[in-house]
Amino acid sequence: MSNLNKIIEEIEEVEQSANGQIDQQILNLDQLEHWRIIFLGRNGEISKLMKYLSSVSDENKRIIGPKINNLKKSLSNKYNLTQKKIDQRNNAVTEFDFTLPGRPVNLGNYHPTTLIIREICTAFSEMGFQIIEGQEIETEKYNFDLLNIPNDHPARDQWDTIWLQTENTNVKHLLRTHTSPMQARVMEKNNPPLRVIIPGKCYRYEATDATHEWQFHQIEGLAVDKNISFSELKGTLFEMARKLFGTDQKVRFRCDFFPFVEPGVDMSIEWNGKWIEILGAGMVHPKVLEGVGYNPKEYSGFAFGLGPERISMLKNKISDIRNFHLNDLRFLNQFTI
Ligand code: DAH
Repeated sequence: MSNLNKIIEEIEEVEQSANGQIDQQILNLDQLEHWRIIFLGRNGEISKLMKYLSSVSDENKRIIGPKINNLKKSLSNKYNLTQKKIDQRNNAVTEFDFTLPGRPVNLGNYHPTTLIIREICTAFSEMGFQIIEGQEIETEKYNFDLLNIPNDHPARDQWDTIWLQTENTNVKHLLRTHTSPMQARVMEKNNPPLRVIIPGKCYRYEATDATHEWQFHQIEGLAVDKNISFSELKGTLFEMARKLFGTDQKVRFRCDFFPFVEPGVDMSIEWNGKWIEILGAGMVHPKVLEGVGYNPKEYSGFAFGLGPERISMLKNKISDIRNFHLNDLRFLNQFTI
């Protein structure tokens, strides 16, 4: 076979292979670029064919020159066309209709209990109290003994206790019936002066009704320092009532009994023409101070405990405490930040 025929055959082979590949194997711009380098690149197949031109006679040049040029042109056209096609396909996939209405995203709300706890804690932290949390599984010692509620004392009946069976029978465990045990834990670990607020869950073995749940929350408060008097207790709790219910809010203190305070009081707020009790409080009992190693002659303090759900019920006109645990969205969605 003559040199000329060989070259023509090679031109046809390049044409076939280039067309075959671009028609069947090229799916994206990376592959297309790869194809371009192989066939149209500086050291590609077309350039290789061009090099033959210098080694053939002028007569043969006139035959194969136009053939190579035509092939180059046709491959360049194919390249441009394919590039356009791929671009169009890519755009079609990513094209987004910005005029479509958005899909609503369901944003959750904070639970009404969380909201009221935060509101109350904020009121106290503005008065210099530190917020801490405690454990829900307590021992008899902290839930009762250190709070001046000895075993077999009738006062224990006020707290219908859920006792826990544990392997250690020397220590009796229970689900805390109030947040007051944290008073002793905080005092044991810290020296006065201290001002703390302890929000958390409490449990009582109780039948539920519109105002009682067997699981509920309390917020405990404790301030211990030198020379703390009953007027600090009154001033602090009055200020809390003003922050929560408005600056005109009236409050009333009456005597009450809690074993861990002396004197003990309850505080009511005037609400729709009636006095409603919202918390228990008092001056920390000297026995409680002694129990954690404080000298009651040197230090005094006040403590209080309140139920945030009850406060939320007043503020938000909720008639049944069980709503807080029903998980009914018609109730929960009414509370937003
Ligand atoms: N722990 C009490 C209860 O569960 C509430 C309480 C009353 C807490 C008086 C106090 C307090 O700190 O001083 O009923």
